[in-house]
Amino acid sequence: MTKVLAISGSLRQKSLNTYLLKAAQKYSPEGCEIILASIKDIPLYNSDLEKAEGMPKPVTELKQQILNTDGILISTPEYNHGIPGVLKNVIDWLTRPASDVPKVFGQRKVGVIGASPSRLGTAFAQTAWLPILRYLNTHTYFGNQLFVSGAHQIFDENGNIKDDFTKELIQKYVNDFFEFITTC
Ligand code: FNR
Repeated sequence: MTKVLAISGSLRQKSLNTYLLKAAQKYSPEGCEIILASIKDIPLYNSDLEKAEGMPKPVTELKQQILNTDGILISTPEYNHGIPGVLKNVIDWLTRPASDVPKVFGQRKVGVIGASPSRLGTAFAQTAWLPILRYLNTHTYFGNQLFVSGAHQIFDENGNIKDDFTKELIQKYVNDFFEFITTC
């Protein structure tokens, strides 16, 4: 079984990015699984806290989940044409201690997708993640892109997709991403 850990960069109950990952989960090919991570209990990074108490349990657990899977699929919101602080905070915690970075991120297969109500569907945010992923030496997936624009009209109140074309785009991305993971 090939496993991918999915991280939504939003804490919102009805997050469009979480809906997107749940859709991706549904369309995983046979023999492949997407596991949805939780970031809701991860505190704001503070080196005083790290020194006093060590790594918070939710960070250690998330790190272990990454180590137990074959890749990471990030669904990023876009805030002010950039990356959301909530998600950057998670990545920053995951880079502590710095000696763990090679094992957590080094050559790890990572895909970035995103959903937003705007017309560009997180194009700026997805691009803004690239220097960070490069710095962490991940093996970033560039074979396909998924920008879900007008996402507030794509998903219904319960996160079901109303649009067949978007459904096909998600299916294609998920298939291609798993192929990248298993063949690279
Ligand atoms: C936004 N939003 C937004 N959308 C976008 O496409 N480009 C942008 O630059 C911004 N900027 C922005 C700033 C701030 C502070 C907020 C709160 C929101 C809208 C954003 O895409 C929308 O709220 C999404 O629904 C957020 O993702 P989740 O929470 O639905 O996953």
